[in-house]
Amino acid sequence: MRAATATATPSSVSSGPMLGFSTLAQETVVDELPLQGVLPQWLAGSLLRTGPAKFEVGKDRMRHWFDGLAMLHRFTIEDGRVSYGNRFLESRSYRAAREQGRMVYGEFATDPCRSLFKRVQTLFSQRKLDEVLPDNANINVMKLGERFIAMTEAPMQVQFDPRTLKAADVHPYRAPGHLTTAHPHLDRASGSALNYAAHLGRRSSYRFFTVDPQELVPHLIASLPVKNPSYMHSFGLTEHWIVLAEFPLVVNPLALALSGRPYIENYKWKPELGTRFTLVDRATGKATGGFQADACFAFHHVNAYEDGDEVVVDLCTFSDAGVIEDLYLDRLRAGKPIADATPTRFRLRPADRSVSHRPLTDGNLELPRINYARCNERPYRYVWGVRGGPNGWLEQIVKVDTADGAIRSWSQPDCYPGEPVFVASTEAEREDEGVLLSVVLDATAGTSFLLVLDAEDLSELARAGAPHHIPFSFHGQFASA
Ligand SMILES: [Fe+2]
Repeated sequence: MRAATATATPSSVSSGPMLGFSTLAQETVVDELPLQGVLPQWLAGSLLRTGPAKFEVGKDRMRHWFDGLAMLHRFTIEDGRVSYGNRFLESRSYRAAREQGRMVYGEFATDPCRSLFKRVQTLFSQRKLDEVLPDNANINVMKLGERFIAMTEAPMQVQFDPRTLKAADVHPYRAPGHLTTAHPHLDRASGSALNYAAHLGRRSSYRFFTVDPQELVPHLIASLPVKNPSYMHSFGLTEHWIVLAEFPLVVNPLALALSGRPYIENYKWKPELGTRFTLVDRATGKATGGFQADACFAFHHVNAYEDGDEVVVDLCTFSDAGVIEDLYLDRLRAGKPIADATPTRFRLRPADRSVSHRPLTDGNLELPRINYARCNERPYRYVWGVRGGPNGWLEQIVKVDTADGAIRSWSQPDCYPGEPVFVASTEAEREDEGVLLSVVLDATAGTSFLLVLDAEDLSELARAGAPHHIPFSFHGQFASA
């Protein structure tokens, strides 16, 4: 990756980020981690994260960063101290792999099932599908009501205990389709999760649904027919609209059933399609489409909101979908750089279906976080994330002021930070009043630590050292005590 204003200086003894892509076999509980600095008195609760942590099972090797078997991590802050626990997510994917000593369920880019008949049968049969769906929830964590749920893009999610990290035996709900996102939104009024699922088949559709925290039954609010569904990792939400950004990375569902290739390798990049935005009315389910923009790709929506007659949609965009190739483990372990994402603001004008866009800043940023509770669906100013540096991996925590593009950053030589989770202080008045929590790999030491930064100026407040390295994870949430 290239960084516009890198502050990191590569260490002469840099060991690079490769350790972050290696298996952590150890499960542990530590009552009190060694702490440097002072934690804010108001900060109490648990940072709960999920991510891939096991990259080989018997003779089988995971091919892609997204494929690793999930591990949960818990950093609990209480009375100025930090405790830690980690545990493999005991999903049925994990249990089957452990019991049989091989990969049993297919993943994003690694699929042990080569039976053509079985693949076709499963895609078009609900009962068969339910038998083979993976539930390796290594992408994100959601708090739905009082439940904690680890999430993946397959429709089965996994509930877990936030203290012991032990998984529940039953799935809390099943998304109504073959593929969903691990980035649901939470409805402010009801507390329900709001998500979409792609149903693949002879008649494919995007299905938008809510899940009530008590009932746990998906309730369909809209279904849009689509011939060749796009790969979408997240979506946007405004006060009145669900925002769908369809990138031209698309799949022919029948070809998927017949190909025998791992899931993501069936998606084709077709830039001639451009990027299409659709607004779905949250109240009626009615879709307003026809917003056409240049081809791009993104994993993450940052935020969206309504601004007069326009809808503002902020995305971390790549010029194409090559970043998926960049994240194959053999490339990452060889130190090859990954593509940069540019925080980009799109403005959709429903009156004439026009779309304009501009970068929000000069630098790159991925794994974006905002002050979600205060700003989701609403005008906002700050986004935090990580960006690349000279060692080819994510090396800085950054804060971007969307008002003027100004950037602040934190970095330390040979240290590789993960997604910075914003936690608002209990008495916060300003949008950026609080802390960032990020799990950082110190490659020279061979261990990871929880870093606590002041979210306003990114100055370091404290760090708590874990007893081992923590493989790079994707997303997590802070649950206040
Ligand atoms: Fe994500």
